[in-house]
Amino acid sequence: MKRYHLTTFGCQMNEHDSERMKGMLESLGYVEAPERDEAELILFNTCSIREAADSRFLTHLGEARKLKRERSEVVVGVGGCWAQSLKEEVFERFPFVDVAFGPGQVHMLAEFLTSDSLSAQGYFEFEGFTGHLPSRRTRPFQGWLQISVGCNCACSYCIVPSTRGREVSRPAGELVEEVAAMAADGVREVTLLGQNVNSYGRDLPRGEDGQRASFAGLLHKLDAVDGIERIRYTSPHPKDMREDVIRAHAELASVCEHIHLPLQSGSSRILKAMRRTYDRSRYLDRVAMIREHLPDVAISTDIIVGFPGESEEDFEQTLEVVEQVGYDSAFTFVFSPRRGTEAATITEDLVPHPVKSARMERLVELVQREARARSQRFVGRTLEVLVEGTSRNDPERLRGRTSHNKVVNFTGLAAPGELTDVRIDSATSQTLAGEELLRDRVTRALRASPNPPARAAR
Ligand code: SAH
Ligand code: SF4
Ligand code: F3S
Repeated sequence: MKRYHLTTFGCQMNEHDSERMKGMLESLGYVEAPERDEAELILFNTCSIREAADSRFLTHLGEARKLKRERSEVVVGVGGCWAQSLKEEVFERFPFVDVAFGPGQVHMLAEFLTSDSLSAQGYFEFEGFTGHLPSRRTRPFQGWLQISVGCNCACSYCIVPSTRGREVSRPAGELVEEVAAMAADGVREVTLLGQNVNSYGRDLPRGEDGQRASFAGLLHKLDAVDGIERIRYTSPHPKDMREDVIRAHAELASVCEHIHLPLQSGSSRILKAMRRTYDRSRYLDRVAMIREHLPDVAISTDIIVGFPGESEEDFEQTLEVVEQVGYDSAFTFVFSPRRGTEAATITEDLVPHPVKSARMERLVELVQREARARSQRFVGRTLEVLVEGTSRNDPERLRGRTSHNKVVNFTGLAAPGELTDVRIDSATSQTLAGEELLRDRVTRALRASPNPPARAAR
């Protein structure tokens, strides 16, 4: 039996694609090797979103080269966004790579592995969804759903449109079927994936009723699938965040109380240079609409500091928006010029490295302060938690996530995959801590039991 080892870098779409790669490999008879040096097939699913992602991957690729020198039968395969952005150049620069493929060509890996081809092969067309391939889920009760691939936006800093191609949505009927199958297989939480999920359906033909498929419509259809308790999605684009989607959060029990709304910058001038197609006031209008319908919802965001031309004043506007919105959490990034992007060609007014770092420090400090303050609203409340496993710091405790996407460490008895009630006793900027309500748990177990002892005793 042949063994493979796969290392995944990058975003949730890559995690999804890797689960599909594993499913496909296992259907070909491969088994997963616990360590890279035990595998005959060494695979990487790569990311190129920032320079740091590239360099981290190159260290790993160097190790694969070494292993191949020691055992010449080893096959090295590189998939994902980094491979797509370099295409055939991969083989010139890294001649020990046997197969390279982009995110739209994962299925061709099977073709390569079952052919007799000894020469290096590259597959870089944008075609096919990885969502059509068999899957091996990391956690049996959580599933990804690829609702669309690609991105039609032109954010000037971003490499993704060139690595994932134009946006293509999958038909809703197919997605409902996939989620129903997941539910039958034990999945309770599904996360819808796309680069811009809320522009879903614009490329699909109109239905028989003459209506276009919409993201809110898809949420309604998926909420109706029995057995799915939680629906999450990432990422929406603020320009497409419409009231129907916000209402879906309020109306549909399974849609989680969390919205990720990437800001990138609080300065309209910088947003324009980033080609984000909204300005500060439009973004804040969206936040106001969200808060009006969903006063308790958690809002998270992505922010870039040090975009070319960002002045102290621009940066202070970002700080102002962060303060005004009060994010529950934020991912913060230092601008990184990416090959082939418009922003990478800007040579004037670049922000010096020490200034970027100092701004990042100020931003992170504010984000944490806001997040800490926001999470205090949960203290004293009882929240439903989906148990994911044992706590990372304390094996005696459990770890799970609330609908608000807050990690909770707690004492209790529940098993991974169960939904249970936890009383929250304390909160930091990142995590909550509490105790499972065991009395409710016992009552629930008795109710669920076909032969409740109380009745049997009667
Ligand atoms: N499609 C998603 C995610 C894109 S990548 C979206 O639009 O929200 C995730 C985040 O990485 C982006 O939101 C952005 O904040 C950051 N990012 C992308 N390109 C970057 C670059 N060149 N430098 C620094 N951060 C970047
Ligand atoms: Fe990149 Fe912008 Fe598309 Fe997100 S919306 S993937 S940031 S181009
Ligand atoms: Fe990275 Fe590609 Fe995702 S560049 S962040 S793996 S879409």
